[in-house]
Amino acid sequence: MTPKNTYILGIESSCDDTAAAVIHNGVVLSNVVATQEIHKQYGGVVPELASRAHQQNIVPVVQLALRKANIDKKQLNAIAFTRGPGLMGSLLVGTSFSKSLAMGLEIPLIDVNHMQAHILAHFIKAEEQSTPNFPFLALTISGGHTQIVKVTSFFEMEVIGQTLDDAVGEAFDKSAKLLGLPYPGGPLIDKYAQLGNPKAFKFPKPKVKPLDFSFSGLKTAVLYFVERNTKDNPTFIKENLNDICASLQFTIVDYLMDKLKNAVKETGINEVAIGGGVSANSGIRNALLVAEKNLGWKVHIPKLEYCTDNAAMIAIVGELKYQQQLFAKNDVVAKARMKF
Ligand code: KG4
Ligand code: ZN
Repeated sequence: MTPKNTYILGIESSCDDTAAAVIHNGVVLSNVVATQEIHKQYGGVVPELASRAHQQNIVPVVQLALRKANIDKKQLNAIAFTRGPGLMGSLLVGTSFSKSLAMGLEIPLIDVNHMQAHILAHFIKAEEQSTPNFPFLALTISGGHTQIVKVTSFFEMEVIGQTLDDAVGEAFDKSAKLLGLPYPGGPLIDKYAQLGNPKAFKFPKPKVKPLDFSFSGLKTAVLYFVERNTKDNPTFIKENLNDICASLQFTIVDYLMDKLKNAVKETGINEVAIGGGVSANSGIRNALLVAEKNLGWKVHIPKLEYCTDNAAMIAIVGELKYQQQLFAKNDVVAKARMKF
């Protein structure tokens, strides 16, 4: 019999966000994220500082999630946590905290793959988002990952395309850094892009296998572009920032869409769901809506708070695993690199 009326606590600590959420029968009761501001001054995530900040944040974040959900910890049925992939020092904090809490409360512990969670976030019940039908294609785009995944059922997923070097979020952030923008630069590129001409400048689209991605060349191209143009005109970037951002974003979005189109063609599946922080990008959102209109795709775009790193996505996987009694053993260990 499928257990009903469950309260699952999800805990996420794979990178630089400490997050906790409570889910009840597919509905999110609370979703708390403490974003670590400390990394901004370094222009990227510093693993050692991330780990330390997780240690400081985890207890108050979990307490707040329980309080916002208006439940007592004794009402919890299980603890779901991110086992990997991610930064080892960060994962260890969430893993050991979750183990102790589950042991103390004498309830099951459920290990969750962060990448699976980005995809299964689509199964959170919320008015603003639609649920995909199996099989569907998932495009996960963030600061740590860029993948096209064929999803056949909740726990049957196959990576059919991925980046060979940088993730797309890194491409945004590193390009932004070269333009003198603060970290994380992705949202800023998006902001300025909306005011500029996407055809003003041309950036290359690296040639790799039809479903794979490569972004390191783009970063180098931006570096040369900046060097070339600022040699005689030191204020070139400032004068052309909107057009540069629009052109860069246009190139990246077009590249992502090329790959998705290849995947749709190859698999015959035209139901597409996106996830990960870069799904917040207005360019990719618009391009997908155009594909829905012109190519007959069925497109699923999750609520923004379930796109970026969060614990609600960990909790929904916890609930789905709880229904199948898929529990972790207490000697489970964090894993920095992890496949589906
Ligand atoms: O999923 P996420 O919160 O964390 C992981 O990397 O796992 O994604 C963060 C990434 C960053 O690289 C950030 O620059 C990018 O998502 N990002 C965006 C936008 N919002 C966030 N990139 C482009 N346009 C945006 N609007
Ligand atoms: Zn992520």
